[in-house]
Amino acid sequence: MSFATRADAYVARIESVLDHHLPPTEVAPRRLHEAMRYSALGGGKRIRPILVYATGEALGVPLEVLDAPAAAIELMHAFSLIHDDLPAMDNDDLRRGRPTAHRAFDEATAILAADAMQPLAFEILATHPALVGNPAAQVRLVALIADACGSRGMTGGQSMDLAAEGRRLDPAELEHIYRLKTGCLLRASVLAAVCCATEVPDTTREALERFVDALGLAFQVRDDILDIEGTTAETGKTGGSDLAKDKATYPHLFGMPKARQRADELLLQATDALAAFGPGYDGLRWAARYIVLRQRS
Ligand code: IPE
Ligand code: IPE
Ligand code: MG
Ligand code: MG
Ligand code: MG
Repeated sequence: MSFATRADAYVARIESVLDHHLPPTEVAPRRLHEAMRYSALGGGKRIRPILVYATGEALGVPLEVLDAPAAAIELMHAFSLIHDDLPAMDNDDLRRGRPTAHRAFDEATAILAADAMQPLAFEILATHPALVGNPAAQVRLVALIADACGSRGMTGGQSMDLAAEGRRLDPAELEHIYRLKTGCLLRASVLAAVCCATEVPDTTREALERFVDALGLAFQVRDDILDIEGTTAETGKTGGSDLAKDKATYPHLFGMPKARQRADELLLQATDALAAFGPGYDGLRWAARYIVLRQRS
């Protein structure tokens, strides 16, 4: 089976896991549940679940065990996107080729849908039948995902991203923001699989960390390139949105050639980090190329 086919299977799998855990729209409050399902289902590349599953497969973890962390991380990601698009943040009208949550519903409903996704993520980690026999893994996952999304992780990065609008940052400052706002959740995706595996050698864990740290940066550089070069049909977002708000991005601050060069360099760093590993890691190698060379945003 090709990795593209395997990734399609991971995407279908996470879609059905999320569908199962999200409250049905027949249940009150219906509009809130509609907004949650609208924002979490039927779209998105599902890169974070792909990383959870591909890392888990490399480490010999059964897919059922990976469902809860993959779903929890994707819900935290979906919550971050709803907030990211709000007028108080990036003020975007289009996401995944459809109106953003606050446009399709209203601001209050969008904020509340994002609010409700966070406890749902942790509830899934606490109650998923494939995890309840392994409380040590559950605690590790809760700590990992909470830390990745908190003020020293994604939320902190989003705060710094907003503060950086209109400012001239140097590359180290910009990459620090990228690591937090985007890198932390990608890192948690790989490390979530490590939390579920038995006896991962330190050298393997360190290599996986080097892999995903480079990949997380490359992913955001590519996202910023696509904001300028991608068409709405490719990205599902409004082109030029970052430039309109004078956001601090790699191509905006340092030029498109430097941005491309940095993405290529980081992809090489990511794949080099896995050099010592055999074909069991080909899924992760495929995911890295997909993430950095993608046309879709
Ligand atoms: C968008 O993430 C936000 C960033 C961190 C750049 P994705 O590009 O993974 O968004 P979806 O889930 O595929 O829509
Ligand atoms: C968002 O980065 C990172 C998040 C934590 C959501 P962007 O603001 O560049 O993401 P898009 O381009 O809106 O998807
Ligand atoms: Mg943003
Ligand atoms: Mg945005
Ligand atoms: Mg962007």
